[in-house]
Amino acid sequence: MSDDTSSRIEGFHKMEPDARLQAVARQAKLGNEAVATLADAASGQIELADRLVENAITSMAIPVGIATNVTVDGRDVLVPMATEESSVIAAVCNSAKRCRSTGGFRTSTSGPVMAAQIQLLGASDPENVRLKVLERIGEIKAICDETDPLLLKFGGGFQDLDIRVIDTAEGPMTVVHIIVDTRDAMGANAVNSMAEALAPKLEEWTGARSLLRILTNLADRRLARVRAVWPAEEIGGEQVRDDMLSAYHFADADPYRAATHNKGIMNGISAVVLATGNDTRAIEAGAHAYAAKDGWYRSMTRWEKDGDGNLVGILEMPLAVGLIGGATKIHPTAQANLKILGVKTADELARIIVSVGLAQNFGAMRALATTGIQKGHMALHAQNVALMVGAVGTEIDKVAEELKTLGKVRQDLAEGILARLRGEA
Ligand code: MEV
Repeated sequence: MSDDTSSRIEGFHKMEPDARLQAVARQAKLGNEAVATLADAASGQIELADRLVENAITSMAIPVGIATNVTVDGRDVLVPMATEESSVIAAVCNSAKRCRSTGGFRTSTSGPVMAAQIQLLGASDPENVRLKVLERIGEIKAICDETDPLLLKFGGGFQDLDIRVIDTAEGPMTVVHIIVDTRDAMGANAVNSMAEALAPKLEEWTGARSLLRILTNLADRRLARVRAVWPAEEIGGEQVRDDMLSAYHFADADPYRAATHNKGIMNGISAVVLATGNDTRAIEAGAHAYAAKDGWYRSMTRWEKDGDGNLVGILEMPLAVGLIGGATKIHPTAQANLKILGVKTADELARIIVSVGLAQNFGAMRALATTGIQKGHMALHAQNVALMVGAVGTEIDKVAEELKTLGKVRQDLAEGILARLRGEA
C-alpha cells in the first residue's frame, strides 16, 4: 500500500513537472486552488524551470522594477532590479538623482580574474611542495588552457599561481590557487574544470594528496569599485550629511550594525544580480567575506566629507558576474534585462551593479539618519495589509489610506475598515 504522507516518492526526479506537482499535492494534501496557483505560477516557463533545477514543479515570479536616474561613467542606464522588498528600487532612483549634478557614479574594475583552490594534504614539507608546484607553472598553464580552449580564444585563460601554506587544526596544508582570466563568464565552470584537471598532476609532482578542487567566492582579484559625490544641499543639509557619516562610523565599528548596513547594500546588488540571471549567493558570499578582510567584519562602503563639504561614498567589492553561462544565457527574462542595461561585457555589468549598491547604501543611511525607514515603508505596508485582509480593486487604496491616517498599520484595524466599506459593520 502506498503511503501518501511519505517524503520518499519513487521516481520523482524522472516525472514530468505536472506529475510531480500532482504527487506533491497528494502528499501535502493540497486543494485544487493551491495546485492551480502553483501550476499558473510557472507562466509558460515550466520547461525552463525543469532544465534549470531538479525536481521542478513550478516557478516563483519575483517583481522586476526599473531604477531610473542612474548615470555610470557618463552613460545613463535603466537598471532592472528583481526584488520582493518594497522601497529598494525607490531608494536607488532617489539616491541616483541626488548625485546627478556631480556626474553620477564613477567606476573602475580589476579585470575578470577568478581563482580556484586545490587543497593538498599529507605533505610533511608543505613549503617544499609549494616550490615544487611553482616550478611547474609552464606545464600548469598548458593543462589549464587545454581545458578551456574557447576561453583562450576570447583572450582569457590561465594567468598565474598563488600558493599558500595555511595552518589548520590538523597541521599545515598547502593550498594551490590557480588564477584565471574568465572574460565574460562568471567563471565557476571554467576554473573548477581546470582545478579538477590539474589535481592529479599536482599529486604526481608533489607526492601530496589532493582533496577539494573548487573556486573561491572570495573573488578578490575581480573587484568592482565605485565612487560618487553628493552635495550637502542634495542630502538635506550639513546636519543630515554629518548624521549620515555618524551612521557610517557606527556600521564600520560595530558588526551588529555592519550586518544590517551591508544587508541594505546587498538589497541593491542582489536585485540586479538576480535580474540578470547571475548567482546571488556567490556574490553575497564574496561580499561579506571581503567585508571581513581586515580581520573584523566592517562596512562594505566608505564615506567621508570632501573639502567642499560634499559627502563622498566609495564601494569596492568582489563582483563575479557573467554574461555567458548559467541562467544568464538561457533565461529569457535575464536576457531581456541585459538588453535594457545595454551592456556588452561582464565588466560593464559589474560597474552598474556596484553603483546600485552604493546608491542603496546612501538611501538607507539617509532615511535612517532622518525620518527612519518605517515612514517610507508605511504606504506599501498599508497596501499589503489591505490585500491580506481581502481588499480588492479600489478598496485596497481606501483601506491603506485610512490605516495611514490612523498611523497604525494593523490587520485587525484593516478588517474593520474593509467591513465598514462593504457595509458589513
Ligand atoms: C532593509 O532591508 C535594509 C536596511 O535595514 C539597511 C540599513 O539598515 O542600512 C534599511
